[in-house]
Amino acid sequence: MSFDPDQMELPSRPELFDFRGVSMTHFFTDNWENVQNFKARPDDVLIATYPKAGTTWVSYILDLLYFGQTSPERQTSVPIYERVPFLELIVERLPTSPRLIKTHFPVQFVPKSFWEQNCKIIYVARNAKDNMVSYFHFDSMAMIEPDPGDWNNYFQRFMQGKVVTGSWYDHVNGWWKKKQTSPNVHYMFYEDLVEDTGREIDKLCSFLGLSPSEDERKRITGGVQFDKMKKNNMTNYSTHARMDFKTGSFMRKGRVGDWKNHFTVAQNEEFDEDYKKKMKDPTLQLRTDL
Ligand code: A3P
Repeated sequence: MSFDPDQMELPSRPELFDFRGVSMTHFFTDNWENVQNFKARPDDVLIATYPKAGTTWVSYILDLLYFGQTSPERQTSVPIYERVPFLELIVERLPTSPRLIKTHFPVQFVPKSFWEQNCKIIYVARNAKDNMVSYFHFDSMAMIEPDPGDWNNYFQRFMQGKVVTGSWYDHVNGWWKKKQTSPNVHYMFYEDLVEDTGREIDKLCSFLGLSPSEDERKRITGGVQFDKMKKNNMTNYSTHARMDFKTGSFMRKGRVGDWKNHFTVAQNEEFDEDYKKKMKDPTLQLRTDL
């Protein structure tokens, strides 16, 4: 278990390939055996998302809820992606308890120990159109991602699931299905967090059995707003070596509905038609009207 992502040889832009039916890069699969044998502990908390659905936001909220009072120095000295690291890169060396871990895996890739140990899992979903736009911009600046190409090309690839971690549709649907039979999965939406961050933090607390004081709750709700996180070097990824900040910023817009600045009318029609075919479960209400 001594895998060190910083020692990993990466080409400047990795190739996408099919891994057990899901588009992936080596970054997420090289450590597969170790990850599958990961020994989860009952108090581990896993944050699962399709990339760009609000992973960092929820990671930061959880880190503040669990460690904001007890280890304030963490907030000013350790970047969020180290405080809440990728399961895909193995995290048994994590010193904290509970361990907060994130993953972009589709539900079928999650190691069985998380289910056996009844760990709490938080899934965050974001509406597909904004998710696609955010992912396109991220892929343009993140050297750990395959080259996104131009927007028209990316638009098609996203709908076909030819991006890292595969089909958005399969991801959100797979996790939704799992939630129906697993009370340990809390399924939340990026748009709800934007609408009322405090309300969603309350729901998270009740799911996790946490009861922050009213002052603490207010401090966290204020501290995790977009502008604060954008200015905070420990949450804005400015310390990350594999981002090209000349191309864009990680904390980009943080808005609902930015897809309208990217989709053409024809693309929107094509997308909606395709969406209807892939999103058949009426109980999963992802917003497309925003
Ligand atoms: P945009 O690219 O649309 O701005 P992830 O952490 O899963 O990679 O998701 C990143 C997306 O979440 C980016 O979306 C980022 O701006 C947004 N985000 C991060 N923190 C946020 C916050 N506090 N409020 C709103 N959006 C936030």
